[in-house]
Amino acid sequence: MISQATIDTVFETARVEEVIGDFVQLKRAGSNFKGLSPFSDERSPSFMVSPAKGIWKDFSSGKGGNSVAFLMEHSHFTYPEAIRFLAKKYNIEIEETEQSDEEKLNTDVRESMYLVSEFAKTYFHNTLLNSEEGKAIGLSYFKERGFTNETIKKFSLGYSPETWDAFTKEALGKGYKMEFLESTGLTIAREDRPFDRFKSRVMFPIQSMSGRVLGFGGRILTNDKKAAKYLNSPESEIYHKSKVLYGIFQAKQSIAKLNNCFLVEGYTDVIQFNQAGIENVVASSGTALTPDQIRLINRLTKNITVLFDGDAAGLRASVRGIDLILEEGMNVKVCTFPDGDDPDSFARKTSYEDLVAYLETNAKDFIQFKASLLMNEAKNDPVKKADLIRDMVTSISKIPDRIQREIYIQECSRIMDISEQVLTSTLAQLVQKDITEVGKKAKQEQKAFEIVKNESPVQASKVDVLYRLERKIIEILLLYGNKTEEFEDVFLRTNGEGEIETIIEKKEYKVYQRIYLSLQEDEVELANPLFRDIFNDLIQYFLQNEKLEFEKYLMHLNSDFAQEVTDILMEDERLVLHNWEGQNIIPKTKNETISQYVSETILTMRWYLVDKIIDELKNSVSNEPGSDNTESMSMAMDYYKLINSFSKKLGRVMSRYS
Ligand code: CTP
Ligand code: MN
Repeated sequence: MISQATIDTVFETARVEEVIGDFVQLKRAGSNFKGLSPFSDERSPSFMVSPAKGIWKDFSSGKGGNSVAFLMEHSHFTYPEAIRFLAKKYNIEIEETEQSDEEKLNTDVRESMYLVSEFAKTYFHNTLLNSEEGKAIGLSYFKERGFTNETIKKFSLGYSPETWDAFTKEALGKGYKMEFLESTGLTIAREDRPFDRFKSRVMFPIQSMSGRVLGFGGRILTNDKKAAKYLNSPESEIYHKSKVLYGIFQAKQSIAKLNNCFLVEGYTDVIQFNQAGIENVVASSGTALTPDQIRLINRLTKNITVLFDGDAAGLRASVRGIDLILEEGMNVKVCTFPDGDDPDSFARKTSYEDLVAYLETNAKDFIQFKASLLMNEAKNDPVKKADLIRDMVTSISKIPDRIQREIYIQECSRIMDISEQVLTSTLAQLVQKDITEVGKKAKQEQKAFEIVKNESPVQASKVDVLYRLERKIIEILLLYGNKTEEFEDVFLRTNGEGEIETIIEKKEYKVYQRIYLSLQEDEVELANPLFRDIFNDLIQYFLQNEKLEFEKYLMHLNSDFAQEVTDILMEDERLVLHNWEGQNIIPKTKNETISQYVSETILTMRWYLVDKIIDELKNSVSNEPGSDNTESMSMAMDYYKLINSFSKKLGRVMSRYS
């Protein structure tokens, strides 16, 4: 584990504008920087970086946070990966914490498997590039397939020698344990004679989204009909075939940027496309596509283009994948290649421009694709045609979005020359069936929606006031929580002549103490659960820490909290942004003293809450003849007085109560 001291140094050193500047072109805008959002396609900048606050906010997607959050969001790093990346950028030496032997044993099984896999990747890669055998057999094979050195490096391709235990020996010699060589499947132990699983194969490391080596595919080089062409790592603690997509590490940024992902079948398809200049491509590695794999893509884009080999056998098998993609609410297009070609062979003989043009012209939506695939057979056979139409409508029924379903029904009607009505009623039956199966949740959601709708506008606006006040309290805590300010305490006292006097005492408080004590005095908790949790967390934080640095503070929050806190902190920057875009919004100026600002907010909140109590009292007053409402009435009167005192303090006249 990375030590806390290292993490602290990283946070102290990293400048948010420098970190982001490596990925986004930033222009200075006053004390901030602005740029085009890297998370969406836009022409006018809505991405803001505040060096002073150490955070960023993307107003088009709503994302935001500190430098680490940016790296996690943009480059899909895990937290430790982001810290390591920053340490490297700023030449900070990483100090690892000591672990007890037992801790090591427990936490390290997966870690050890990752390490030995990483070692294997490097070993196979070096063997390919540097050993005589590797160069003569492996490298020349890849060259024959047209892979450049750059491509070989990019995918860390390798070679596993002909000797039956070359790799195992090397790994054991370097101190890697047999246990992990076996659990990763790199070594097969049989009758005390361990041997290499991938002996005499060229190697394709399979990496996670963040680049960790999870397993391998190894291709045989001889034409041995009995041996499998590709051999893959077995399922293990770190390698789950159904959750991995080959090439995702190299493709993720391009997928997000181009907002589309090409899906192919094999390792070589991915690699050849990359070499041709198309990077947004991943492979399911010969197995049927799984929902987990689709969700992996869904994190990056809503659009998938499935690329099919020219042979029809492959087509049928993969058509099922389309419905799965539709079910995840994604848009799917399909593109086939000429007979006898797969994406690999086609890309190899085609220039980049022609390849892009081919993909653009030949990618069809799934309805057109199904039609073209089956139309020839079905044309003169009414039974087959009916089957085809049912097949299309079944696919359409998988789409969660109703409007999209509608559009595809229209298209299907046009292509298949059948009335929309018939299709719609067929669809309705299919969707109906789905609803009874999984519809309970959807129905509940609908109920919740209805409740919101029934709320009166008055109630809604009251909720809104409270929301804004509570948000402001969080904002004040974040910006000024640890500042010491002078506040006025007001007491009422009866003097010698029996008159009530008002005594005003000035006293210094930390802002967070003042807010905390005031709310306690009124026995008030914030109503919004998220704000309440952030409030409690902030108070705890102030009690334990001298000062609050946004970057560090954000780090200790979970992502919901961090998002909300970033939103609140970047409120001002948002106003600045609107100004650039020509809208005449005057940024709010906080020209009062902090103490005034705090007092005003607390008083307004009290006033609001008391007002609510009065409303409740009024509602509880019974109109039944003979009922005694004296108590409620007198309580209400007391509260009115209280409100009057607030209004005086606030220096406002509240017309409603005058
Ligand atoms: N595959 C596999 N095991 C096999 C055959 C195939 O895991 N025995 C997977 C591999 O990921 C392979 C993909 O299925 O890349 C597609 O198979 P295929 O079309 O046969 O291989 P190609 O990628 O075309 O490989 P090559 O061009 O090297 O023959
Ligand atoms: Mn091939």
